[in-house]
Amino acid sequence: MTHNLLENLTFNDNTEMPRIGLGTWKLGGAEGVRAIRTAIELGYRHIDTASAYANEEVVGQAIAEAIAAGDVTREELFITTKAWNNEQGAAEIPLAFQRSLDRLGLEYVDLYLVHWPCQEKGLYLESFEAMTRLQGLGFVQSIGVANFYEEVLREVVEETGVVPALNQVELHPGFSQEPLRALHQELGVVTEAWSPLARGILLMNPVLDSIAREVGKTTAQVALNWAMELGCSVVPKSTHPKRLRQNLESASFKLSAEQVAAISALDDHAGFGRIFQDPQVFTG
Ligand code: A2P
Repeated sequence: MTHNLLENLTFNDNTEMPRIGLGTWKLGGAEGVRAIRTAIELGYRHIDTASAYANEEVVGQAIAEAIAAGDVTREELFITTKAWNNEQGAAEIPLAFQRSLDRLGLEYVDLYLVHWPCQEKGLYLESFEAMTRLQGLGFVQSIGVANFYEEVLREVVEETGVVPALNQVELHPGFSQEPLRALHQELGVVTEAWSPLARGILLMNPVLDSIAREVGKTTAQVALNWAMELGCSVVPKSTHPKRLRQNLESASFKLSAEQVAAISALDDHAGFGRIFQDPQVFTG
């Protein structure tokens, strides 16, 4: 499998998204505004937030400042936000969406996601369906899900007749989500990796380190390039300008098929795998 990592990804609704986005979980306050402004100055055009991150106002402020400074236009930006677990339900989703828009200071978002299935609540289907209506009204360009596993993803497609544009899931070296990626490919869903650097804990890994030396890049760049080579979008987070630049530049080199395979094989190593909670049990 080979992709031009510098090209946008195309969704099943024929809209596009830059492959690399800025993750903003835990970004907040003045430091958050500064990091997002810096990211936009460096060339990031895709920013990922969520109502649960409690930083939509910070993201909105950074966007407003960047637009006012002439760094970017709204149309050049791709903004994702997500409905939290207590915002699910047919009646609640439009209200939650309006609250997100108000906090972001935006008139539309590019992508709106159901943040977790929370299967035992039984509201994910009607929540996604409510998003299809928001999309129909033109308030959101594309709609998708996050942390959905096979059973709930198939159910969404079968029951609503709409294929989510994207599923954002935990994915990093050591947890390549191979079966889920195959399902996404079958259905036409883009895979987006959250925590593609596994919160930084994999960056000392000897396999990544030796490949990084071979290609003259950092381990973070290798991890991000690998995920993109698998066809995924990535949303790494950093507050440091040097790392923000490094991460953005991770699309501009090519790993060999053997290097990609060696990183994917980390799935089989003891001690690797999922770091965060399994969405089949996570209720938020
Ligand atoms: P920091 O914000 O201090 O740069 P993930 O996006 O997988 O959750 O990982 C985010 C973590 O990885 C953060 O702790 C971030 O720290 C760190 N990080 C982000 N980019 C890099 C990089 N290029 N090199 C090393 N660490 C990084």
